[in-house]
Amino acid sequence: MTQRTDMNRDIDHVLISAEQIGRRVRELGAQISEDYEGKDVVLVCILKGAVIFFSDLARAITCHMEMDFLSISSYGNNTKTSGIVRISKDMDTSITGRHVLIVEDIMDSGLTLNHLTHLLKAREPASLRIACLLDKPERRECAITPDYVGFVIPNEFVLGYGLDYEQRYRNLPYVGVMKT
Ligand code: IMP
Ligand code: MG
Repeated sequence: MTQRTDMNRDIDHVLISAEQIGRRVRELGAQISEDYEGKDVVLVCILKGAVIFFSDLARAITCHMEMDFLSISSYGNNTKTSGIVRISKDMDTSITGRHVLIVEDIMDSGLTLNHLTHLLKAREPASLRIACLLDKPERRECAITPDYVGFVIPNEFVLGYGLDYEQRYRNLPYVGVMKT
């Protein structure tokens, strides 16, 4: 495989276009702005998958906020999570008594976010909510629902807009399904 190949050629079809994402992210931003008006909010990006969604969502939110970044490693392979996560890069901000909104790319089994929310709740935030660009509810293995969802998608492996396959394709501007 050469480094020069156009990534778009590996995509079977576009599931959600850049325009659809843009529209939906603006709607979510408006909703979040309303819900968090006047509150001390910390927007937390879960690296690396959420980075594109996070930067677009943050710019669609009109209330004051702080941004922070957290990186987790899961003890599993790429397409399946064990749910046991370790915080490999923690936030700089203390979240005690503050309104925390976690921004994630996708909720699949839900195990990763389930575990992460347990870890963060121990720090006693005033509130803790989750915004996910994508939700695959069919795959859920625990009782967790994101508070804000961009799109509910079927049980397919998707790429782009932050989501990767072996660390690549994150920079595709749309969400697509890879050729098999
Ligand atoms: P969960 O613990 O099963 O909910 O795992 C969620 C994580 O698995 C996400 O943060 C992604 O990194 C990864 N993941 C799940 N589904 C997909 C997919 O369709 N494409 C790319 N990554 C995915
Ligand atoms: Mg991820």
